[in-house]
Amino acid sequence: MTESKKKINKILLAYSGGLDTSVAIKWLQDKYDAEIITYTADLGQKQDWKAVEEKALATGAAKAYIDDIREEFITDYVFPALKVNALYQEKYPLATALARPLISKRMVEIAQKENVDAFAHGCTGKGNDQVRFEVSYKALAPEIKILAPLRDWEFKSRDQEIEYAAANNIEVTATKDSPYSIDQNLWGVSIECGILEDPWEEPPADAYLWTKDVDQTPDEPAYVEIEFEKGVPTAVDGISLSPIEIVNKLNDLGAEYGVGRIDMVEDRLVGIKSREIYEAPAGEILMTAHKGLESLTLDRDTKNYKASMAAKYAEMTYYGLWFSPLREAMDAFVDKSQQTVNGTARVKLYKSQCTLVGRKSDYSLYEHGLATYDESDVFDHQSAPGFINLWALPVQVANQKNRDK
Ligand code: ARG
Repeated sequence: MTESKKKINKILLAYSGGLDTSVAIKWLQDKYDAEIITYTADLGQKQDWKAVEEKALATGAAKAYIDDIREEFITDYVFPALKVNALYQEKYPLATALARPLISKRMVEIAQKENVDAFAHGCTGKGNDQVRFEVSYKALAPEIKILAPLRDWEFKSRDQEIEYAAANNIEVTATKDSPYSIDQNLWGVSIECGILEDPWEEPPADAYLWTKDVDQTPDEPAYVEIEFEKGVPTAVDGISLSPIEIVNKLNDLGAEYGVGRIDMVEDRLVGIKSREIYEAPAGEILMTAHKGLESLTLDRDTKNYKASMAAKYAEMTYYGLWFSPLREAMDAFVDKSQQTVNGTARVKLYKSQCTLVGRKSDYSLYEHGLATYDESDVFDHQSAPGFINLWALPVQVANQKNRDK
C-alpha cells in the first residue's frame, strides 16, 4: 500500500513519561512541525498520573490523555488469556503482550476523534512491542501513518538523549537510574537488561520488584479459595470481587509468599533470543486454580484439545496478532468450553510455591463410584478385557507383521 505524501500536522504519541518518549515529543515536533498529543495508559502501574500529564504538557504536548483502561484490560484481554491458560513458551503469562493491542485500540479511538495524521510510539527496532503496536494500528486504522522515532533518530546513546533533553528544557527525572528496563501492569512486571543480559547469572534480589525472596516469606502456608463462573474468577475466599480487585488481591498475597517469579530465555518475534524475568503472582495463582477446576469439569477430549491450542493462542498474542480472525475464533471455542467451568479451586501458597490442593464444582465430571478402589466401586471390570483387545489390535498386528520380516 502506498504511503501518502500528505503533511503530518497532528501526531498521537504513546507516552510513558520516561526519557525516550519525552525526547520524542520535542523531536517529533521539530521534525514534522506538528502538534503532539500524548496518550498514556493507566494499566495499574503505580505512577503519579498528574505528574505524567504535567510533564507531557511542559515538554510541549498540546494535549495529554491519561486513560484508565484497567477494567477493560482485565476483562477483555487478561481473562480471555486466562481462560486459555496462555503462556508463551510455556512460561510467560504475556502481561506486556496483552496490553499492547488494547493501548493501540484506545489510541485509534482517540486518533479518530482528534483527527490525527500519525501514530508514534517509543519502541526500538529490535523488540516485539513495535510489531504489536504497528500491527494493531494497521488492523484498526490503516489510513493513519505510523512513526517510530526511536528507530529513526540520530541519538546513539542515552547520554546523547540526555544532552538533547538538557538543550531543549526537557525535564530529566532525577530518580536513581535503574539498570533494568521495566514494564508493569496489573497482570505482571517484565524486567530485562543490566546483569540479566547474561543468561548464566542468577537474577540479583534487587531485580525483582513485587515478590519477596523465598527466605523472607512466612513460615506458615496460606490457603486461598478462588471461585470461577464460566472460567472467569469472581470471588476470593467467598467474597465476590471485581476483576481488578481479584487481580490486585492475588498479586499482593502471592507477592508476600514469593509466588510468581519467572526467569526465562525467550525467542522474540524478530529472531533474537533474550533473557527476561517476570513477576506474575496473580497470574500464577489464577492459572493454577483455573487449570485445577478445568481438570474436574472438562471432558477429556475438550481439555486435551484446548491445551494443544493454548501455545498457539499465546504465540498469536506474543507475535502481535491479537486482532486476527484466528484469535477471535479461538476465543469463541474457548468460551464454549468454559460453560461448565464453574466452581471453586483451593490453592496453597508456601515458600514461593503455588500448589493446587482442592477443587469442587456442581459441574464436576468426577464420579466417585467409578474412581474408587473401595467396595462402593461400580465400574464394570469385565468390560476392560474386550476394550483392551480392540485397542491393542492395530499395534499387535503391526508388531507381528514387522517381526515376521
Ligand atoms: N519480553 C516481553 C514481551 O515481549 C516484555 C517486553 C518489555 N519488557 C521490558 N522489560 N521493557 O512481551
